[in-house]
Amino acid sequence: MGRKKITIVGAGNVGATAAHWAAEKELGDIVLVDIIDGIPQGKALDLMESRPVEGFDVTITGSTGYDETAGSDLVIITSGLARKRGMSREDLLQQNKEIVSSATRSIVAQSPHCIIIVVSNPLDIMTYVAKAVSGFPKNRVMGMAGVLDSARFKVFIAMELNVSVEDIQALVLGGHGDSMVPLPRYATVGGIPLTQLLPAEKIEQIVNRTRNAGGEIVSLLKLGSAFYSPSASAIQMADAILKDKKRVLSCCAYLEGEYGLNHICFGVPVKLGSRGVEQVLEVSLTDEERALVQRSAREVEESIASLKL
Ligand SMILES: NC(=O)c1ccc[n+]([C@@H]2O[C@H](COP(=O)([O-])OP(=O)(O)OC[C@H]3O[C@@H](n4cnc5c(N)ncnc54)[C@H](O)[C@@H]3O)[C@@H](O)[C@H]2O)c1
Repeated sequence: MGRKKITIVGAGNVGATAAHWAAEKELGDIVLVDIIDGIPQGKALDLMESRPVEGFDVTITGSTGYDETAGSDLVIITSGLARKRGMSREDLLQQNKEIVSSATRSIVAQSPHCIIIVVSNPLDIMTYVAKAVSGFPKNRVMGMAGVLDSARFKVFIAMELNVSVEDIQALVLGGHGDSMVPLPRYATVGGIPLTQLLPAEKIEQIVNRTRNAGGEIVSLLKLGSAFYSPSASAIQMADAILKDKKRVLSCCAYLEGEYGLNHICFGVPVKLGSRGVEQVLEVSLTDEERALVQRSAREVEESIASLKL
């Protein structure tokens, strides 16, 4: 029985930090790929040299090519340009489309049976690109956004109530952009509905902060975007898949009729296990929530239409 093999494309902030989390959790042997010679090799060797200190028994290899990635079980795509201050996710669309397409083609050639998690922005569109270019079935290509958006929602609730993050459940639907749809009606704290613990105005503030959380980090960092929480979120998805945990997490999945949406990649709650997206879970929505979801879906549909794949 061999170890699982994980490829991470893009050895920048998100990719290298994802390698760090994955190594510490001993999820499998890791291959880091980047176009800048020396970066993936240097970061991989640095992580290898932390093994005796941290005591994890997986190998980390760096490369500028894809030969070393052959036979990967799981591939996380983080390659691309990060959003800079004042730059919208949509601005990134055309450049990252080329980067994600070429990475996907190389991955599929080496690992035709892998599961792909896309992290590159604009997330819903890049997930659609990877799904289309790979030709993989819909369960084997997904995007990471909902885990991160829900984590941000949860931590802002925990900070407001001064309670443990462990006791908070929260759900965010929709595209990974300013139109995402955090659902306070589905948020609970130790099983107690959030709506019983905080007044509506406070919840509204938390929802708005969640929607703008990516931009808040960009304004602070000035030269880059968030990477600790995005990489941790991608690795939570990897963990659920590689260990067949059947976790229920919000992910960007290809939809065929669910939520009344067709042929788009969009944030919804799914069951994640060894087959990837094993089920899309549909939750009931109020008219107001449904309208917000539809508005978010229209934005994603318009960007997909502009792709000319
Ligand atoms: N889905 C999310 O919630 C989320 C959160 C944070 C960041 N992101 C996105 O993730 C991506 C990476 O962010 P980051 O902060 O790590 O950026 P970064 O600039 O630190 O790293 C990106 C890396 O990709 C590499 N790269 C570029 N073209 C490549 C190619 N063709 N093949 C291989 N590698 C290539 C670059 O050399 C760089 O090392 C960005 O698109 C960013 O917007 C998404």
